[in-house]
Formats: sequence, C-alpha cells, structure tokens
Amino acid sequence: SKAAAIIVAAGSGSRTGGDVPKQFRTVRGKPMLRHSVEEFLQHPAFGPIIVVVAPAHAELTAQLLEGVEGITFVQGGAERKDSVNNAIQYLDNLSFNGMTFIHDAARPFLSSAVLDRLLDALASSDGAVPALPVVDSLSRANTNSILSEAVERAGLFRIQTPQAFHHQVISKAHATWNSEKVPTDDARMAMAAGYKVVFVEGDENLAKFTFADDFGREMGQAAKMHD
Ligand code: C5P
Repeated sequence: SKAAAIIVAAGSGSRTGGDVPKQFRTVRGKPMLRHSVEEFLQHPAFGPIIVVVAPAHAELTAQLLEGVEGITFVQGGAERKDSVNNAIQYLDNLSFNGMTFIHDAARPFLSSAVLDRLLDALASSDGAVPALPVVDSLSRANTNSILSEAVERAGLFRIQTPQAFHHQVISKAHATWNSEKVPTDDARMAMAAGYKVVFVEGDENLAKFTFADDFGREMGQAAKMHD
C-alpha cells in the first residue's frame, strides 16, 4: 500500500507572533502549509495525505489549499501529540497498515530526496527520522544571558521531520505513551515504547520556522535568489 502523510498544522504559532499562525503565512510565494502538501502529493509513494488543523482555522486552510485535490482534513488537539494522535486514529479506523510519515507544516521545504532516504531506512527499522549533527558550540545559560557549563556537542544531533514509521509502530507508541511530560516528537514516543528508530541524513532546508525573524531571513534569501 502507499505511505500515509500526516501534516500537523494545528499549532497557535505563539512564538512567531502576528494574527495568523506561521504555517498559513506566505513563504517563497506560497502559503507555508501548501509547500509540504504539494511535495507529498507529487511523490509516487504517498497515498492518503492528512492535514491536521484547528477548528478555528478550517476555513482559512480550505482557502489556502484551494484547487489541491486528494487531501483529508482532521481536527487538531491541545498539544502537538494530540493533533498527531487524531490523525493516527483516523488511519486506524481505515485499518491502514502501511507506513506513516508525520511532518510539521512549519518545515515547508521538504525534498523528495529526504522522503526517499526515509522510505529506504524503514525497510530495516521500526522508524526513521532526518537528523543533522550539531556543529556550533553548546552551553547552558541562565535567564541573565550568563553562560555556565559547556555542553559536549560530539554525538549530538538535531532531529527534524518528517518522521517515518510503520503505522502499527506509531499507533502503538501513541496508545501506550504514559508520561506526564509533553513529548517534542514522535520518535521519542516510539523509542519509549521500545522501538528502534534510526536516522538518515537531514536537510538544512527542513529547518522549522519558529520566530518572526525566520520570515525576515527567508525574505532576504528570496530577494537574493531573484537578483
Ligand atoms: O509549536 P511547534 O513549532 O513545536 O509546532 C510544530 C508543529 O506542530 C507545527 O506545524 C504546528 O502547527 C503543529 N502543532 C499542532 N497542534 C498543536 C501544536 C502544534 O498541529 N496543538
């Protein structure tokens, strides 16, 4: 069967500021959400594409994705994990049994090369995620901007999305997650449930838009590209 894509876009984007959450704002000429939706749609390995949005943004999302066919909308939840879980349950109800990719709408510049690396890695693992090594110096700091101890960066990686799993794996991981802590990603939930998650080479272009300034940087790049 074809792989399913879950694109979560139900966050409030509070760190970015502005009236409209970041995932709906325009970047490189398109609503952010639309970039990854189109990338999954044009990849031959993907079937069901599920976009998770908050009820308050359902209408806006439908407008921004006008003319895009073959997507299903699912309602978001309070935390990211709740949004993902709503989409997993939708797939469970279809008795879906293929591979499930989970992606942040806030990471618009997805490439087919990353999708291919993840599909390959899943042939011999429970889950796979894109990752890049940390290259900057790391330090803890307090709220007064005073650096304290240095953190060894060797062996540290930045984990991105899409995160890819056999559907049963991620469904079981969500169903059995029992920590009070809010998990930042699905890989962590799969590992907590005892599954093996490997990493493939990530992509700097997959960086998550988080702060308002990310838009400024992106505009600067777009301007340069047109010089
Ligand atoms: O807030 P953060 O940047 O960690 O959000 C990562 C992704 O998860 C975003 O694409 C956001 O829209 C989504 N999200 C969600 N439901 C929530 C919180 C975040 O779908 N309740």
